[in-house]
Amino acid sequence: MNVLTTIGETRTACRAAKRNGSLGLVPTMGALHEGHLSLVRAAQKRSGTVAVSLFVNPTQFGPTEDLAKYPRDFERDRDLLEKEGVAFLFAPAVEEMYPAGAGTFVTVEGLSDRLDGRSRPGHFRGVTTVVAKLFHIIEPECAFFGQKDAAQVAVIRRMVRDLDLPIEIVVCPIVREPDGLAMSSRNLYLNPEQRQAALVLSRSLRAVEERFRNGEKCAAALVETGKNVIAQGPSVRLDYYEIVDPETLLSSAEVRSPALVAVAAFVGTTRLIDNVVLT
Ligand code: PAJ
Repeated sequence: MNVLTTIGETRTACRAAKRNGSLGLVPTMGALHEGHLSLVRAAQKRSGTVAVSLFVNPTQFGPTEDLAKYPRDFERDRDLLEKEGVAFLFAPAVEEMYPAGAGTFVTVEGLSDRLDGRSRPGHFRGVTTVVAKLFHIIEPECAFFGQKDAAQVAVIRRMVRDLDLPIEIVVCPIVREPDGLAMSSRNLYLNPEQRQAALVLSRSLRAVEERFRNGEKCAAALVETGKNVIAQGPSVRLDYYEIVDPETLLSSAEVRSPALVAVAAFVGTTRLIDNVVLT
């Protein structure tokens, strides 16, 4: 695996690789788990060469968020990717991605203020800016994202459409722990009691799904079902519970499939998200 830290050498190496076949990109912030690795494996099936980026992107963290304590273990991540047969690992320093005076941002208006964007002002502006930069540096034909971050998927798809970027966005299913907890780098923050309490997120989604399957189409009633399960979690504080259109992230009184049921909640001080699509 070729570990690259500068934009110049990465662009040269990726362009050379593209002469021998297609290139797929998996953007990550590291602290890799099976969710990330599922994207790598999907990329390998589709593309001759796979590039992974590992960059804890400061512009997508709010001033009171967990940028400083975000889990970092470069050697472990590098070894995992090496074992998966990844060709390129792009792991730039912050100054490489944001040189002094950097003041240009990519913003998807509207969508960026919904769901996580409402709770985390500026978050999606940071995500779209860094992802646009990664797309320009690596120039992949395909880029792989997880359904775990459903609002992020909607925002990135819209950016790609609006800016005519020649990149196919491939979305992979949520990878869960055996007990249902969606895998997340932030699960590392949870103590054993919180880890147990965090199960209310996935449990609530299953309850909503079941009620929808039994014929309930009223969004308010379905949200109520989900919120009631969240309320059972000790030291769990709800951030949002919404049922929205997966593309516009807007809600409606009556649920029409496909509908995205999205939840965000604090377990202790750790903010977790999860979702399910009703079809
Ligand atoms: P990060 O949280 O590291 O996630 C990288 C990718 O892995 C995202 O596309 C995310 O949706 C996916 N992922 C995370 N947990 C998953 C799970 N349990 N199942 C399936 N996929 C999962 O998302 C980001 O980083 C950043 O915002 C980034 C796109 C890299 C821009 O900085």
